[in-house]
Amino acid sequence: MTAQPETRTPMNELTAEQLRSHVARELGRSRARSTALTEAVDETDLVRQHSPLMSPLVWDLAHIGSQEELWLVRDVGGREPLRPEIDGLYDAFQHSRASRVDLPLLTPGETRSYVADVRNRALDALEHSPLAGRRLEEHAFAFGMIVQHEQQHDETMLATHQLRSGAPVLHGEPVPEPVGGPIPAEVFVPAGAFSMGTSTEPWALDNERPAHRVELPAFVIDATPVTNGQYAEFIAAGGYEDPRWWSTEGWQHRGEVGLEAPAFWQRDSTGEWWRRRFGVLEPVRSDEPVVHVCFHEARAFAAWAGRRLPTEAEWEKAARWDHETGRSRRYPWGDEEPTPRHANLGQRHLGPAPVGAYPGGASALGVHQLIGDVWEWTSSGWHPYPGFEMFPYPEYSEVFFGGDYRVLRGGSFGSDASAVRATFRNWDHPIRRQIFSGFRCARDATPSEIDNGRVG
Ligand code: AVJ
Ligand code: FE
Repeated sequence: MTAQPETRTPMNELTAEQLRSHVARELGRSRARSTALTEAVDETDLVRQHSPLMSPLVWDLAHIGSQEELWLVRDVGGREPLRPEIDGLYDAFQHSRASRVDLPLLTPGETRSYVADVRNRALDALEHSPLAGRRLEEHAFAFGMIVQHEQQHDETMLATHQLRSGAPVLHGEPVPEPVGGPIPAEVFVPAGAFSMGTSTEPWALDNERPAHRVELPAFVIDATPVTNGQYAEFIAAGGYEDPRWWSTEGWQHRGEVGLEAPAFWQRDSTGEWWRRRFGVLEPVRSDEPVVHVCFHEARAFAAWAGRRLPTEAEWEKAARWDHETGRSRRYPWGDEEPTPRHANLGQRHLGPAPVGAYPGGASALGVHQLIGDVWEWTSSGWHPYPGFEMFPYPEYSEVFFGGDYRVLRGGSFGSDASAVRATFRNWDHPIRRQIFSGFRCARDATPSEIDNGRVG
């Protein structure tokens, strides 16, 4: 089989004027979110270091403006720098997150007026760009990249909010309840090739490209992410005390930092688990995907359960491959953009939704909640696809290839729809758990499953 062509995306069909209004709307949505996240707290909280793992919120905001200035104002717009002296302060490679609080940063007021000035000039660049010609401007790629960059930092700021102590300042709608019938525990995925990555998605980032054929043996994957209830069984079974389930590196890390449950969990005197979420202490709900676990914890759970984590390619095949047409979809449910019927995205809810809450988002094979809810750890390291071409700058993806990272897929409740798709690739250090990270398990298919192997 040859890799099947992907569907043309809606963005490819827009006129330049329609594309301009789409971009303006997306820029407006990302800015509304950045504004809400930074106006929810007072000035002291904006400049404070809530955790050495995170930047002060005011740094993220100015960095959002700085990247926008670099690409949309200076490059696309051809304008002179607004404040050349601040470039270095907001260069993520010059200062570690832990050290940013000590920099002579712009004040919150200066930051707000800087990002507003940048935005006005970026909108002017949008008016004047043909949105065609140069690769950077074709399909408004640079604008799409900057929209996604702002939304990614908004998710990072949301994680900073989670680490902040004090009274709750963020509010979300209650999560939807499970609907429809019971979901089978696992889904069989037959052996064969599928098309991984994309060469046609206009706003896909360099690391998602190009589309390429990947051949996989048959495997079985969980139909839903691992839940708090399942994870609590692992804890109760002594999973954190048994080195058999842990890698050498994971076991050592567990000991060094004293891992004993997901981050933000605490037990009451009766042994019930509670969690602190955005300043609210609530009982842990057993049917929700577990969140705030590191790769080592995910891997240990999988080993305890007699399973393993899926590879990145397995995750993507389960998410995209349509067994009826052989084609790879843009999203598990098809090619349409995510709506609240499909997935828990965009910080609409302040946590993952119970498993079964999004039957409308299931993949062709019947795998649920792949997009949204929690980022899912895979067993794969961070590597380029065959044929990778860096674009437009090496510090987005390329400089991290081959490092101590594991790939995460699917996005979380805190990811915006513009910054996730079934091809989207995230990565982080295997010890990180301040991100909205969970997982699902997989295993090799057994010979009898392969014999009977039927899809659907
Ligand atoms: C793709 C989420 C790993 O936040 O470190 C933001 C995204 N790159 N600014 C990150 C990113 C540059 C990146 N991740
Ligand atoms: Fe950034």
